[in-house]
Amino acid sequence: MELKKAIETRHTLKVLADPDSPWELPQGETQDKVAGILAAAINAPYHKPADKAHLAEPLTSPVPWRFHVVSAGQCRKLVQKLGNTDLQSGKIRNMLAAADALVMTTWLPNPAGQAKAFGEFDPTLQNMEHIAASSAAIQNLLLLATEAGWNNYWSSGGVLRSELVFGWMGIPLEQVLLGAVFLFPEDTRGVDVKPGGLRDRKGSASQWSRMVEI
Ligand SMILES: Cc1cc2nc3c(=O)[nH]c(=O)nc-3n(C[C@H](O)[C@H](O)[C@H](O)COP(=O)(O)O)c2cc1C
Repeated sequence: MELKKAIETRHTLKVLADPDSPWELPQGETQDKVAGILAAAINAPYHKPADKAHLAEPLTSPVPWRFHVVSAGQCRKLVQKLGNTDLQSGKIRNMLAAADALVMTTWLPNPAGQAKAFGEFDPTLQNMEHIAASSAAIQNLLLLATEAGWNNYWSSGGVLRSELVFGWMGIPLEQVLLGAVFLFPEDTRGVDVKPGGLRDRKGSASQWSRMVEI
């Protein structure tokens, strides 16, 4: 798919399966396909290396983001585990029941000046740029997923932001979730699907860009 077409085609789609009838697992090649788009998504710009406090074997790259890939099989396990808690999981369990994969994308804040609660960080320029670079990596992922034929959805994560779920997934609590990216099969099998609520409100370029004159 040419780049412009992938950009124009990308759109949010939430695929809502029944958590009591999760979809069967995709064929083996899916893992390779996910690995392929992750390898390409690395080609995002970043300005400053992540603080060394975040670099732990084997995740030693200085890029300020981390992708924690949850396979379809592990997504189905999560459907069960979340169902056994009192946590409000909204539509997350429905989506986990359909997903081919979930990519928990975190960014790596610089160590805070003062003790911070889980998920909080200092409002510094460097942290802003870490988030910006990580967002570029996520957009790469979405475009590559679109090209590969996956329906996809960048979610804030809801219950997936919780310390409990970070613990289940082995995600260090110093990392902050930027996007829980769902990859869904192209064929949505007639189940409920939902587009992004704000998609039609973006307006034309003249409503969000201008030519500067000095
Ligand atoms: C940082 C970020 C977080 C998002 N979180 C949610 C979310 O939690 N729930 C949701 O319905 N959509 C979420 N979205 C998706 C937006 O709803 C969607 O991008 C928007 O409606 C525009 O639609 P489009 O992606 O089809 O262009 C998120 C998007 C971004 C960039």
